[in-house]
Amino acid sequence: MTTLHASSAADLLPEPRLEIRNLRRFFDGRPVVDDVSLKVQKGQVTCLLGPSGCGKSTTLRMIAGVEMQDSGQIYVDGKLICDTVFRVPPERREIGLMFQDFALFPHLSVADNVAFGLKGSRAEKRARVEELLTRVSLARHIDSFPHELSGGEQQRVALARAIAPRPKIMLMDEPFSGLDNRLRDGIRDETLSLLKEEEAAVVLVTHEPEEAMRMGDEIALMRGGKIVQQGAPYNVYTRPIDKAAVAFFSDVNILHATVNGALAQTPFGDFFAPGLEDGTEVEIVFRPQHIRIDFDRAGRGPEPTAKDGVAARGRVKRARFLGNESLVEFQMDFGTVLKATVPNVFLPAEGRAMWLTVPRNRCFVFPR
Ligand SMILES: Nc1ncnc2c1ncn2[C@@H]1O[C@H](COP(=O)(O)OP(=O)(O)OP(=O)(O)O)[C@@H](O)[C@H]1O
Ligand SMILES: [Mg+2]
Repeated sequence: MTTLHASSAADLLPEPRLEIRNLRRFFDGRPVVDDVSLKVQKGQVTCLLGPSGCGKSTTLRMIAGVEMQDSGQIYVDGKLICDTVFRVPPERREIGLMFQDFALFPHLSVADNVAFGLKGSRAEKRARVEELLTRVSLARHIDSFPHELSGGEQQRVALARAIAPRPKIMLMDEPFSGLDNRLRDGIRDETLSLLKEEEAAVVLVTHEPEEAMRMGDEIALMRGGKIVQQGAPYNVYTRPIDKAAVAFFSDVNILHATVNGALAQTPFGDFFAPGLEDGTEVEIVFRPQHIRIDFDRAGRGPEPTAKDGVAARGRVKRARFLGNESLVEFQMDFGTVLKATVPNVFLPAEGRAMWLTVPRNRCFVFPR
């Protein structure tokens, strides 16, 4: 006789490499990390993204075991490694660390720094060190000492050292912040592909949304000690849960309106406000790159459309070229100032009248 199981999608996922459940940490009676739960699969990168002081580093330090949680559990490959009673010490957690204020051992050569946590024969260690230093473009510095390297080079040695023992979990706290842009992209991509090859689960802390979008398979948006939204970068960017989540990734424009018959009325026409009662004050939030500019209509303005609503007129207040795009501020006839970004060079004269529309599928309507 066979037994039948009801199976769900969750059963099909492998055991997460890292799982934290309901982590809490208080300082002076104040919750600094407040009920944070997270799963990271092998070879996946989760970015903890959030403003300064929101609890990112504290979360990472608890996973590393250098800070104790007040409640909650940490699991690696399904095995409990830490709760409030039981605790695997940091050095036995098979966790690699790469923090902003990394320190190399000054009296050891680059090779010995990278080999520091390695086991095996001399030849095996040397091979691993050479492999990693080549990957971070530092092979020629193998016998140098830290003081002979630039800051960025030292940072790459620290990365190689963290990755060398093939940790199951890699915790990175703003590890690329000291590098210049050009170097950073290369090191970031190289680090990621190394960690993915080794099937490490990575938790990367950053307060730069662009870095999180670039590096993360998932983004966990933190605020005030809590994860307020979590998902693939595309989903977090295109389906933000509130105004602050929109604003974290870009500049925003905001229109104020009041709901009437499930519609919010604005100078750009009506916006759907489903599920909100009459009289609710709402904010209609949209990013500068989503404003459509329809100029040159001899003062008439374009016809209203179902998708874009009604056009409203504004005058150019200020236009600036930013390199990849131009930023134009409009003083709208209805009083508000709106920001629009336009690819490439677009520098209309100050005072010039233009008609703007706001595509409905790019707007978010939130109660105030
Ligand atoms: N040892 C401590 N004692 C008291 N308060 C602390 C301690 N460590 C952190 N905090 C407080 O906890 C809060 C979160 O700190 P944390 O370092 O986790 O923030 P963060 O998100 O990493 O910020 P940043 O982006 O600035 O690095 C801060 O308000 C900080 O002052
Ligand atoms: Mg921090």
